[in-house]
Amino acid sequence: MRFDIITVLPSLLESPFAHSILQRAQKKGIAEIHVHNLRDYAKNKQKSVDDYPYGGGSGMVMQIEPFAACIEQLQSERAYDEIIYMTPDGVTLNQDIANELSTKGNIIILCGHYKGIDQRIRDIFVTKEISIGDYVLSGGELPAAIVVDAIVRLIPGVLNDETSALSDSFQDGLLDAPIYTRPAEWRGHKVPDILLSGNEAKINAWRDEQQLQRTQERRPDLLND
Ligand code: ADE
Repeated sequence: MRFDIITVLPSLLESPFAHSILQRAQKKGIAEIHVHNLRDYAKNKQKSVDDYPYGGGSGMVMQIEPFAACIEQLQSERAYDEIIYMTPDGVTLNQDIANELSTKGNIIILCGHYKGIDQRIRDIFVTKEISIGDYVLSGGELPAAIVVDAIVRLIPGVLNDETSALSDSFQDGLLDAPIYTRPAEWRGHKVPDILLSGNEAKINAWRDEQQLQRTQERRPDLLND
């Protein structure tokens, strides 16, 4: 799977993709992540990519030409399944969306800044608008990194234990059961006896029950869905 991320702050995206699972996925050749500097596609000497909003108002608006030049360059090289714009007014990211996107081949992600991007970019090029939650961040880079992380860990072969992604919270519509590791007792706080019992059937039943209980307590909305 290939991601092309278009941003004015490429260095902001160096670290998130250079560690752990995302790094391993790239080393294994399962995921390719390319970050493009939008300013490289600006035609003016100053390499500016924004301008004042028509109709007045505060803040700058990112212009269509540099985005169009970068997107069209990429599209001339290969076909893309989705062009995603990260924006707080998009659909809120959830596990279903991540699952669906993990089946795609090539994805472009646009990161906005300032007041946002010219509406015509959204109308003409963008196929999906995704928010990572009801709060406003300074730009789309961190949201883009989150979307890529949520997708890449689902691609078969990325996680060593493939059942691990399937047992994530949300994959079965429920939150995860509590987990423990050694020591079995710390300052009088004990790991539940059942987990030390070695009885797999009983442990699975306990985990199912805990998942349901946690979801009921913390996210009853998931049960209504
Ligand atoms: N850009 C700024 N805030 C955002 C958010 N909450 N989700 C996605 N992109 C954003």
